[in-house]
Amino acid sequence: MRVTGDIDIAREVRWSDPDLSWGTVLTMGYLHEGHLSLIRRAKNENDRLSVSIFINPTQFGSKGDLQKYPQDIEQDLMLLTKENVDLVFMPPENLMYPQNYQTKIIVERVSQPLEGAARAGHFIGVATIVTKLLNILEPDFAYFGQKDAQQVIVLKRLVQDLNSKVKIVVCPTVRESDGLALASRNVRLSQEQRTSAPVLYKALKAAEELALHGEREANHLRDQMRKIIQSEPLARIDYVSAADPNSLEELAQIKGGVLLSLAVYFGEVRLIDNILIESEILGR
Ligand code: PAJ
Repeated sequence: MRVTGDIDIAREVRWSDPDLSWGTVLTMGYLHEGHLSLIRRAKNENDRLSVSIFINPTQFGSKGDLQKYPQDIEQDLMLLTKENVDLVFMPPENLMYPQNYQTKIIVERVSQPLEGAARAGHFIGVATIVTKLLNILEPDFAYFGQKDAQQVIVLKRLVQDLNSKVKIVVCPTVRESDGLALASRNVRLSQEQRTSAPVLYKALKAAEELALHGEREANHLRDQMRKIIQSEPLARIDYVSAADPNSLEELAQIKGGVLLSLAVYFGEVRLIDNILIESEILGR
């Protein structure tokens, strides 16, 4: 496993044999089974695999959230060694954003609602760093988690709009046995908050159940999610949404597919989760 923070070395490893296919998993580190599921799939589907670890400051709203982002490089490298990763790219911040840095990537409409509305500039930061990392690592396939549903939608738009050759592969959300989606931020939950946190998935599942039983009023799905989250005193809703999975516009009636998603605070820890119901399932 080659570990480097140097762009030329990363490129040299990437292109050492141009006939081999490369998969890439981009991360901010503090790796868990969610990241590892992407890594295993990418390894399985490609000759070679690169993983990046970079806590991207430009996608964080507040300095505080950035500073509290958990980190354990030693543990990460140990996990990546076990997964037989070929290349780990860990650039220093001043290499990604040097003094005279001036360029931002803006994906317009799909960046605006939900996470984009709650976290100003977040997707500009994500789209910019992902463009840079994909330009450096030049994979054939890049793997992302459905856990961050809007991120996937924004990045699919990005590669299509910029005529990138990289193909985006979306992998299912990995959960704890009680339904809580794995996330690096989960370690910041107190014991009581951790016990309450599965309410996110319960709310999503209840709304999904309604939709699968023929409920077509999107308001009823949102109300159901809200009601269940509000039954948990430690939870504070940021948003609940039943949106069109392509445009991310809030739906009135469920016709095709629907992306059920929510963001909920436990104290100062903000958790997100979602369930995508594909149109074929609802169209039965
Ligand atoms: P990070 O939160 O570290 O996540 C890295 C990748 O792992 C993302 O594609 C994310 O969707 C996926 N992931 C996280 N938790 C998951 C889970 N429980 N199940 C399945 N996949 C999961 O997302 C980012 O970093 C950053 O925004 C990044 C794309 C690296 C740009 O900075």
